[in-house]
Amino acid sequence: MDIQITKNTNPKAKPDWSNLGFGNFFSDHMLIIDYTTDKGWYDARIVPYGPLSMDPSAGVLHYAIEIFEGLKAYTCPDGKVRMFRPHSNAARMNRSAARFCMPALPEDVFVDSIRRLIDVDRDWIPREDDTSLYIRPFMYSDQSNVGVRIPDSYRFVVILSPVGAYYPEGLNPVKIYVEDEYVRASKGGTGFTKCGGNYAASLIAQKKAKDMGFTQVLWLDGVERKYIEEVGTMNVMFKIKGEIVTPELGDSILPGVTRESCIQLLRSWGLSVTERKLSIDELYEAARNGDLEEAFGTGTAAVISPIGLFSIRGEKLQVQDGGIGAVSQRLYDTLTGIQWGKLPDPYGWTLEVG
Ligand code: COI
Repeated sequence: MDIQITKNTNPKAKPDWSNLGFGNFFSDHMLIIDYTTDKGWYDARIVPYGPLSMDPSAGVLHYAIEIFEGLKAYTCPDGKVRMFRPHSNAARMNRSAARFCMPALPEDVFVDSIRRLIDVDRDWIPREDDTSLYIRPFMYSDQSNVGVRIPDSYRFVVILSPVGAYYPEGLNPVKIYVEDEYVRASKGGTGFTKCGGNYAASLIAQKKAKDMGFTQVLWLDGVERKYIEEVGTMNVMFKIKGEIVTPELGDSILPGVTRESCIQLLRSWGLSVTERKLSIDELYEAARNGDLEEAFGTGTAAVISPIGLFSIRGEKLQVQDGGIGAVSQRLYDTLTGIQWGKLPDPYGWTLEVG
């Protein structure tokens, strides 16, 4: 696909690379591709970063007709810029799109257009330890009509944000509140998609957890409120009596790219990884009797985030000594080593940007 490039003649000052936080700064350009049922995807362009205009009746504003992705790019020691598993994000965005009757974007258009955008904004990729360029592709309906029906017109946009750690804790263990009042997703719902609405609906529980001094919420299934699903912004894994257990995927859990990568790494180290239903009672018992050896979250933004403490039905249960477990540390070192080009990439996960 041809991409028109309009350079930003008024570039911003760069942020303090050592104090980025997450999602606070954006590069000088963005990518836009439009879609209508008649034309298909058309008018791909890289333009100066700035406001998007739309009609007040646009579908996204009324019915949250929106999906997104999150992936990262890194400047490696050899000076090359690489993205991590962009085809997996492209495929997942199309699975989200199908759930919302949105159009699929060809995977090679997703990957190649992002490569072009990163190439234009190369100087926005931070090089400090524990930093990266977070890539946020999203698709929404800009169709003007307040009827609830499948729209004919959409926009695909990509913005870039230089980031540090997602949680202020960095690699230090986070405290997790097990939510048993609100639910994130239910059978037949949209939990497996990356749609903005899933995250909007989670905010009230996140506020509740924050107010009580916890970093994030662990969600239980929406039917029985019994089985562990995922943490607000990451999938979750436990080491119980030497075995790694992680909730099996279904229609209410996001199929994380980092989750899948970790499972591959763990198995390659000879560790047993089981994807199965794990009840909150089983976790409670394991935490109480010392069988819970480690707990950690996995995600693009969160990378590997060790969990040091759970609050389950009002009771606080520490995971071992509350520190970083050996498996979490090894996963973090290996995954970021591959992503940052400091370790070999035997799985072909990284893709060079032009
Ligand atoms: C990600 O890990 O990329 C996410 O999308 C999580 C969050 C920032 C919504």
